[in-house]
Amino acid sequence: MPTLYRGVTFVQHRPRWPRIPGLGFGADYNPEQWPKSVWQEDVRLMREAGVNIVSVGIFSWARLQPAPEVWEFGWLDEVMDLLHANGIAVDLATATASPPPWLTAKYPEILPVNERGETVWPGGRQHWRPTSPVFRRYALALVEAMARRYGGHPALVAWHISNELGCHNVYDYSDDAARAFREWLRQRYTTIDALNHAWGTAFWSQQYGDWQEILPPRLAATHPNPTQQLDFKRFSDEALRQYLRAERELLLELTPDVPATTNFMIMGGTKGMNYARWAREIDFVSNDHYVQPGPQAFDELSFSANLTGNIAGGRPWYLMEHSTSAVNWQPVNLAKKPGELMRDSLTHVAHGADAVCFFQWRQSAAGAEKYHSAMVPHAGADSDVFRTVVGLGATLRELAVVAGSVRERSPAAIVFDWESWWAAEADSHPTDRLRYRQEALDWYTAFLNLGIRADVIAHGTPLEGYGLVVAPILHVLSEHAAKELRQFAESGGHLVATYFSGTVDENDHVWLGGYPGALRELLGIRVQEFTPLLDSEHVSLDNGLTGTLWSERVDPVDASILARYADGSPAITRRAVGAGSASYVSTRLGPDGLTRVLSDLAGAAGVHSELPPAARGKVELAIRSHGTDRYAFLINRADDPVTVDGFAGTVTLEPRAVAVVPLD
Ligand code: GAL
Repeated sequence: MPTLYRGVTFVQHRPRWPRIPGLGFGADYNPEQWPKSVWQEDVRLMREAGVNIVSVGIFSWARLQPAPEVWEFGWLDEVMDLLHANGIAVDLATATASPPPWLTAKYPEILPVNERGETVWPGGRQHWRPTSPVFRRYALALVEAMARRYGGHPALVAWHISNELGCHNVYDYSDDAARAFREWLRQRYTTIDALNHAWGTAFWSQQYGDWQEILPPRLAATHPNPTQQLDFKRFSDEALRQYLRAERELLLELTPDVPATTNFMIMGGTKGMNYARWAREIDFVSNDHYVQPGPQAFDELSFSANLTGNIAGGRPWYLMEHSTSAVNWQPVNLAKKPGELMRDSLTHVAHGADAVCFFQWRQSAAGAEKYHSAMVPHAGADSDVFRTVVGLGATLRELAVVAGSVRERSPAAIVFDWESWWAAEADSHPTDRLRYRQEALDWYTAFLNLGIRADVIAHGTPLEGYGLVVAPILHVLSEHAAKELRQFAESGGHLVATYFSGTVDENDHVWLGGYPGALRELLGIRVQEFTPLLDSEHVSLDNGLTGTLWSERVDPVDASILARYADGSPAITRRAVGAGSASYVSTRLGPDGLTRVLSDLAGAAGVHSELPPAARGKVELAIRSHGTDRYAFLINRADDPVTVDGFAGTVTLEPRAVAVVPLD
């Protein structure tokens, strides 16, 4: 189904899924880290675990091309043959993720430069400029060599383009980036006058007379121009996407029958890539997800999986990486508790993942990731982790029946917008404490607490069919997008907006006349002033809730007041709009406060939980369907057992357990 993005219809670039039976199960496999004797044990254990696909070659550039004119494919030929002989398919990396030392020594100009003008040196990985013509020349030569050598190999089922593009190199302030940024701006604005208007350069004597004068927002004496910053984020996202496209187009030319993907990072704080736009560039969506500890850790996993599934247009997607237990890059790396590995994996499946893969197959003995968990840990196969992995493989085989099914649309949705994330968290704002993704996640937790299914959808996705749509901090709003929200409410939808929404247009210019400018009439309110709160402050509402972070002086021009601040002014409002409504929440209420508010708003919108009352809040429900065959995933969010009665019979879920139940 085509997806609408900001009024532009796009389809994924030829949606195609790799040839694997049932659900994919596997890992990043890095045999170059091990002697050949270990490879035999690897494939034996892979078979024991039911692994049917692995990603190979992700960081192999230096091994494949140890010098400019030297190619060494022999070891990879052997690995590909060995995997194929053991019935294991390969998602083969183009191997361009991390340039070899000879390349950066020969051409130091491919190294990124940070905003202070400091070179990002080799020594880690992904130290290349997305806009470097030299890097691109060498990388595409490698892609071509890989495609020519392995394009016809029977183990090959998909191309894995680079790896986590933008993980470390999304923002590059080098001269290459400056040149490409200017070109991008020329295309966006055509005239320098249009750029001057968009960037508001009448302020602080910033008016440009020539494109050559423009730079990336490098270290400045004080806050760099905000629209320049926003455009640099847009540009940087697109520069990487253009790089992705360059690899993908070459692959398409050389191996037209092999689907290609690249692994997204829809998780926690990964902010730089607008993945709603990336999905159209590839044949199938892949995501990497790592749990970040905290009270909403599991809700965040579900949120990310949900958003990934919707970005994939509801079609199956590929969980390229997650972890069997601890990672190595957090301040304290927590091991997973019993049941978590299974629950995490199946929650991704519940939201549409048709492959469950890990970083990585065998835990490294050396290198920066040696304390990162894997399917085969340092302890070896005689370990709880490997036994759990084998159990997960068996479960995924039993679940093969869900492969190919699509996400069933939820009654409610949360709108997620990368540009609002970028713009709302910029400097020189009413507070630097605002966290866009956290607010969206808090609403998601509120939906989970009420047991109401909600889709997390990219801004621009059509809203028809949703009874209730929450748009948290939808800060950047074009006239067109505001009109779509109005039409949604007028046609019977119930919209909920929050503080700092509808505040600026696409150029980051304030909609004048009172906040939230673009939504003022729809919401029937007018805000004269934002009144953000210090960390030590809070506001009390007359419904017993407490707000933090932010508050506003709201005039209820044409809206009823659902809750007031202590001084009697409105905190939460609602306006009837045609058959629908538009509500506004002007402070940060956190997951518990929002659960109460949402309960009322959802009730008024006629949106209810599909779960029996005793299971609400404890159990997450997701539904996948193949037309008439529908499957309910019941996920125990809690550390206690829970019984779900009267919904597809009676199911008792152990702590952190998941049940998959066919629905009639
Ligand atoms: C990802 C990356 C993997 C590995 C993993 C560790 O960012 O793609 O190569 O580093 O994280 O969690």
